[in-house]
Amino acid sequence: MHVSPVLAAQAVYPFVRIEEAKRRKAAEGVRIIDFGMGDPREPTDPLIKRALGEALDEATGYPTAVGLPEYRDAVAAWIGRRFGVPVDPASELIPTYGSKEAIFLFAQVVLDAGSGKDVVLVPEPGYPVYERGALFAGAEVQTFPLVPENGFLPDLDAIDDDTWSRTALIWVCYPNNPTGAVAPLAFYERLAERAREHDVLVCSDEAYTELWFDEPPASALQVADRSNVVVFNTLSKRSSMTGYRCGFVAAPSEVIESLRKFRPNVGTAPQVFVQRAGVAAWGDEEHVERNRALYARKRQLFVDVFARQGVALAGSAATMYLWVEVPEGETSESFADRLLDHGIVVAPGSYFGPSGEGFVRFALVPTEQECTEAAALLEEVL
Ligand SMILES: Cc1ncc(COP(=O)(O)O)c(C=O)c1O
Repeated sequence: MHVSPVLAAQAVYPFVRIEEAKRRKAAEGVRIIDFGMGDPREPTDPLIKRALGEALDEATGYPTAVGLPEYRDAVAAWIGRRFGVPVDPASELIPTYGSKEAIFLFAQVVLDAGSGKDVVLVPEPGYPVYERGALFAGAEVQTFPLVPENGFLPDLDAIDDDTWSRTALIWVCYPNNPTGAVAPLAFYERLAERAREHDVLVCSDEAYTELWFDEPPASALQVADRSNVVVFNTLSKRSSMTGYRCGFVAAPSEVIESLRKFRPNVGTAPQVFVQRAGVAAWGDEEHVERNRALYARKRQLFVDVFARQGVALAGSAATMYLWVEVPEGETSESFADRLLDHGIVVAPGSYFGPSGEGFVRFALVPTEQECTEAAALLEEVL
């Protein structure tokens, strides 16, 4: 049998390795508290579940790629309230099945390698889907490092003009997974301008904009000229709706036009009842405030333990993640292994890219009770 060479070359998805290690430990009888994957385990708000239930009676055929007008209206209204920018629901928005598929597929929609623009720039450490989607689209992937000295922002001047001129799109993600760093609006302005000079699309993955602790982070949609800006957002983290699969792309109308043409080929559109639940979710901030408060309480438990035990945090200003410096003399993997011996599962930073070495990532997804137990355990282990 033949398989795609891109697929054949693909390393095991890092989280599969974590799952295997975790299963082995659990089989030894160790109680596991899992901070590995960023899958929120908080219940979805009843308001959203009700909206889904009520929509089940609606007769539905295949969901269309353009999506329900009510869904696009709800998203446009939310963007207006949250970021203070107008987005036209008729021409600048499209619903997505969560955001992972839209991120993965995006290079296939806009890459025109024959034009000499065959490079996709991706951050490392980073969410692996940017790179994988670009590779399957036939792009050359080049990475740029996110390091503490730059506040985990890309050094745009370190990307040379030749690379810029060959680049079709650049991925950024703030608040950042895995580092938790936040980008100021001035960064998006610089990035969008530099990218525009070279006819490059800025792809901004904003899955975590709503999980903040001090002040609400900016969106790339707020730049003065967003003619080359494409934003991906999702209800997965904001509203603990990973299982629903509901998000959006906001972009200039030519990009949305291309997505409308492309997406019926793949058939990924959120079900109508999920979009109805999405209307309820984007329309309500109270459950998001409760969600944020819960993450803030969990986060504080660990911030306090790490401070007492002399373990340094880097980034970690927002998101559900803590990006924790590995103690002297240990590596990301050896530290993660040592914590796993005590049942605490974390993701080694090196799994997200070479610049992640020296860190581990805690995803604050266990319950508050489990977080309290884990914090007490860490007090002894660290
Ligand atoms: C950085 C980042 N972007 C996008 C996603 C995709 O989430 P979803 O497909 O659930 O919207 C995730 C999920 O973990 C993520 O961490």
